[in-house]
Amino acid sequence: MSMAALTLLASSLLPVTSSLAATTKDNQPPTFNRDVAPIFQRACQRCHRPGTAAPMSLLTYEESRPWARSILRRVAAREMPPWHIDRTIGVYDPDPSLSDEEITTVVDWVQSGAARGAPEDLPEPIDWPTAEDWEFGEPDLVVEMEDDMVVPPEGPDLFPSVIADSGLEEDRYIRWIEVKPSIEARESLHHTIVYAIQDDAEYVGDDAVERDDDPTRTDSQGNKMGSLLIEYAVGNTGDIYKPGTGKLLMAGAKIRFSGHYHPIGEEVRDRTRIGFGFYPKGEAPKHRIISTRIFAGLPGAGRRLNELSIPPHAANVRHDGYRVLPKPARIISFQPHMHYRGKAMELEAIHLDGRRETLTRVDKYDFNWQVAYPYKVPPVFPAGTVLHVTSWHDNSSDNPYNPDPSAWVGWGNRTIDDMAIGWTNFVYISDEEYREHAAGEATALSGSP
Ligand code: HEC
Repeated sequence: MSMAALTLLASSLLPVTSSLAATTKDNQPPTFNRDVAPIFQRACQRCHRPGTAAPMSLLTYEESRPWARSILRRVAAREMPPWHIDRTIGVYDPDPSLSDEEITTVVDWVQSGAARGAPEDLPEPIDWPTAEDWEFGEPDLVVEMEDDMVVPPEGPDLFPSVIADSGLEEDRYIRWIEVKPSIEARESLHHTIVYAIQDDAEYVGDDAVERDDDPTRTDSQGNKMGSLLIEYAVGNTGDIYKPGTGKLLMAGAKIRFSGHYHPIGEEVRDRTRIGFGFYPKGEAPKHRIISTRIFAGLPGAGRRLNELSIPPHAANVRHDGYRVLPKPARIISFQPHMHYRGKAMELEAIHLDGRRETLTRVDKYDFNWQVAYPYKVPPVFPAGTVLHVTSWHDNSSDNPYNPDPSAWVGWGNRTIDDMAIGWTNFVYISDEEYREHAAGEATALSGSP
């Protein structure tokens, strides 16, 4: 057995709850103020604070202490924070996931009695925005759903497609986007995918990479799909684009909110708003961000055939999807989308020389979470590189979310149907930029010993 395999084996045998590792400098049991609060600030409070859909706030010791047992379980099982990838592949920013050491700190803290610690050890609290505030500043434009979405107390989940006029009179580039559902609806709203319906040559023109993702095709309610702006979900409420990059919102654009609401036992009303921060008028960032979907199980340009096929009781059903980059590009992030049978998804680059490189491996996919994985250093690829998405579905009774292992499952919008979509955000770069990038890499390589 190789060293690497041995290490792997050893680490998987080591119980996470072992107190072998002394995690604090002075061998004292960890305290909330000194050891745990910084971890919660970095990895939990974004979601666990008042006015969000998370079940409790973890801002203070008083709020956290009653949840200690549950925190131990969720953190040791790596269920919290939600981050479902093989952490050995790729480097992400932001990356809220906990290191083994941080997990041991939290576990030791609970097991040693969840002490508060000395007041002077407590870090400055983070000044989180309230549920009402726009987090990234005053928006240049706010677009609101025209009517309330009414979610009755009981019944099936709802998947409305709601259109709103942006009122925008000229093309503008987006610096940031933030989505704000009504506060009373935050528990009911699982996610909303927000699209811009606009006459978008980049998506449908000759160069389009979008042939099987044509934004002019219509959804189940007869609305045009539009091009993706953002997927809102708990903990994923907005995007700020890196300097020099942005999405384009065109004059006359309509905004489409494609939501997923669960009834929660009482009637709730939602009127989601979306706030945009723009680049100054007339200013375009160097690179326009494009969101595209690679479908696994829906091959073929423009063909909307149902080729996703998940047989009854099958535990590991694989589908593949490919897209050839028509121009050099920089890949910014990857986000898998499947339904209840979703199990795993991988994004791979097949290089021009045939070499294959896994960019992200989502090995513990969980339908309850819509997580985007942003690359710390977005990888750059020449034209002709093939992006390859592989999906795996589990239709066996071992899958705790499976509503009916005896059903054959195909492609569809209902949650009991399934999907296999790898969303990517990327920018095209010029041939010259690509050459500069490649030359830079070559220099770096030849400069190393
Ligand atoms: C992306 C948002 C998000 C982040 C980040 C996050 N949580 Fe959660 N957490 C939730 C939501 C939503 C739920 C409720 C759904 C569920 O139970 O899975 C939850 C549930 C929990 C629960 C279960 C509560 C119960 O009912 O027993 C615990 C414990 C928890 N989180 C702890 C943490 C800790 C500790 C961290 C940081 C290390 C963290 N979470 C990070 C969103 C988040």
